[in-house]
Order: sequence, then C-alpha cells, then structure tokens
Amino acid sequence: MALENNSIPSVVATTLVKSYPHGQAGVIKVLNELDLTLYQGEQVAITGASGSGKSTLLQILAGLERTDSGSVQLLQQSMHQMKDQDLARFRNHHLGFVYQFHHLIDDFTALENVALPARIKGLATTTANDQALAILAQMGLSDRLTHFPWQLSGGERQRCAIARALINQPEIIFADEPTGNLDQESARQVSELMMSLCRSNGATLILVTHNPHLAGQADRQLTLTGGALQ
Ligand SMILES: Nc1ncnc2c1ncn2[C@@H]1O[C@H](COP(=O)(O)OP(=O)(O)O)[C@@H](O)[C@H]1O
Ligand SMILES: [Mg+2]
Repeated sequence: MALENNSIPSVVATTLVKSYPHGQAGVIKVLNELDLTLYQGEQVAITGASGSGKSTLLQILAGLERTDSGSVQLLQQSMHQMKDQDLARFRNHHLGFVYQFHHLIDDFTALENVALPARIKGLATTTANDQALAILAQMGLSDRLTHFPWQLSGGERQRCAIARALINQPEIIFADEPTGNLDQESARQVSELMMSLCRSNGATLILVTHNPHLAGQADRQLTLTGGALQ
C-alpha cells in the first residue's frame, strides 16, 4: 500500500542525531542525521544488526527519549515542543507500543490489562471492558479473558499485548521485535494478526524485526546501518 502521493505523512523525522557517552570521554554515535518519512497507513519493517540503534530510534520517534538534535513530527505535531504531560496524553491517545517482552501487569487479568489504556483515556469501566472484549476476540483470546499473564502461552501473551496496544485505535504503532521471543508458528500467527488489524484500522506500523519473512510482509523494508536508514 504505497500512499505517498495522496496521503499525509504521519511520521516525519529529520536529521536525527543521538550519541551516548561511553568510557572516559568517548561517545557512541547511534543515529547520524537519520531521516524518515512515513505516510498514514504505511507499514515499514526496520532491520539491522544488534546494537545498530533500532530500539533507540523507536524510543526517540515515540517521544520516550530525547535526541541530541533533529526533530520528530507525529501526526503533524512536534514531539520536542510538547510538555511531558501533553506527551503522555498524546501517547495514550495516538500511539501504541508492542515490545519483545509483553510488559503485561502480572496481577491483572488479560481483560484488565487490555482495558487499562482505555481506562486511562477516561472511559467508564463497562465501556473499556466492552472494547477490550471486542479486541481480545479479534486476537482470538475470547476464552482467555480471566487468565493472568503467567497462565498464558508466549504467543497468547503477545496477542494480549497487541490488543492492549491497539485498544485506543492509535494512528501509529511501534513494535520492537514483537515476535523475537516466540517460536516460528506463534510468530507467524502473532504478526499476521498484528499487521491485519493495523491495516484494517488504517494505522501506521513501524516494526523492528530480525525475521525476514515478517519484514517481507511490510510495505517497505529499511535497514538501520551507520546511524541512518537505507
Ligand atoms: N541508555 C544508554 N546508555 C548508553 N548506551 C546506550 C544506551 N542505550 C543504548 N545504548 C547503546 O546504543 C547502541 C544502540 O542500542 P539499541 O538502540 O538498543 O540497538 P538495537 O535495538 O539495534 O539492538 C548500542 O551500542 C547500545 O549499547
Ligand atoms: Mg533493540
């Protein structure tokens, strides 16, 4: 789905530079004038060697980490100009995150975990639960509603994490090796569900993965190398 000509950009990153201090006086330059433009509904897969800066890039794009220089606009809003409170609200309303490890809350059930972002957004419990039920059904988890994370398989936990990331129908989803911890069959199921749900919601998906098959399902494949995307 190449939408470049008739759509608005949802992610515009311009000349991002990021270094980390290393050793006595040295630095590691992780991002080196990196540029990226993504259009609404686009799915991009980012691959790259371990340590090449993929997670750092996602954190910066999502406003969870600051750049040294450069700028990020999401949905035509400048991330670096937002106050922390506005940024938190923006993330809750417009962004979804899926990580390699699920980060579900251990003493919440699947339903409670998925409903949480909708509760934080301000929905009443019954409405949030209804939305959680619907999205858990889409993820094939209707018979796991009252299970706790530790009672779920790895693939089920990731599907639950995806349901939680998508419940507020975010425009942009950041997924950092979401299937990195799963066997091949679970990885295939989880990624298919995630990508098809993103497509049906018209969400932009930024997917970091080591899995070439999964990367091949995205609209665009980019590699992070030498601090820039190719
Ligand atoms: N908070 C940090 N402090 C210092 N160095 C860091 C920090 N986070 C990441 N790095 C370094 O930045 C580089 C990129 O890390 P990361 O973005 O996690 O890579 P990837 O996700 O591609 O494996 C690595 O060399 C890592 O050690
Ligand atoms: Mg990483």
